Amino acid sequence: MVALRASPRPVVRYDSAAMLGGENRVRRALTIVGVVAAFSVAFARHGQPAPVDRGRSGQADQSRETLVRVCSKCHPLERVTAQRRSRTQWEEAMTQMVTSRGAVISDEDFDTVLTYLVREYGRVNVNKAAADEIVEVLALPDKAAAAIVDYRREHGSFEDFDALAKVPGVDAAKLEQRRDAIVF
Ligand code: HEC
Repeated sequence: MVALRASPRPVVRYDSAAMLGGENRVRRALTIVGVVAAFSVAFARHGQPAPVDRGRSGQADQSRETLVRVCSKCHPLERVTAQRRSRTQWEEAMTQMVTSRGAVISDEDFDTVLTYLVREYGRVNVNKAAADEIVEVLALPDKAAAAIVDYRREHGSFEDFDALAKVPGVDAAKLEQRRDAIVF
């Protein structure tokens, strides 16, 4: 009995050692798969046409495709993108396409296109707009937009770009990138 009880122990130990080895192999294999996957994703991204705005979500390309599909049926896309508009103006322009120009647009496409147009061809009055619209159009972080709204509440309207760029917590270089989208 003693001999019988003693003998399984080494077997168990060998087994767990073998299992550990197996685990390590699996882990190594998974790491390799992970690295290969990461590289494939990086290369796949690289192979795609440059996004309109790299700082934005990876959806930008797809949204652009939706815009082209939905909005260049009846007129060239340049007719749409010639002019920056506020969120309200974009919404009105798109609604008009549906109500009086005969455009047929699904709700999903409408939202996608509207969001895209506001982001890429938006215009925002920094003396009037709410923080979320400033975030959307100027691609600023929430904190910076909140700082702008707080600052104008305390000090009154911004006169010009330089006044806006001086707000503490606002990245002037980022603002500069969207300078033509800013209205006072
Ligand atoms: C069914 C046809 C049709 C579709 C689809 C269409 N449009 Fe239009 N759009 C027109 C017509 C017609 C006009 C007036 C003629 C012109 O300006 O070329 C127009 C004019 C415009 C104008 C100029 C109006 C202005 O006030 O300056 C804008 C902006 C515009 N469209 C945006 C859009 C957007 C955005 C979409 C996609 C969501 C779209 N259109 C899809 C027919 C269409």
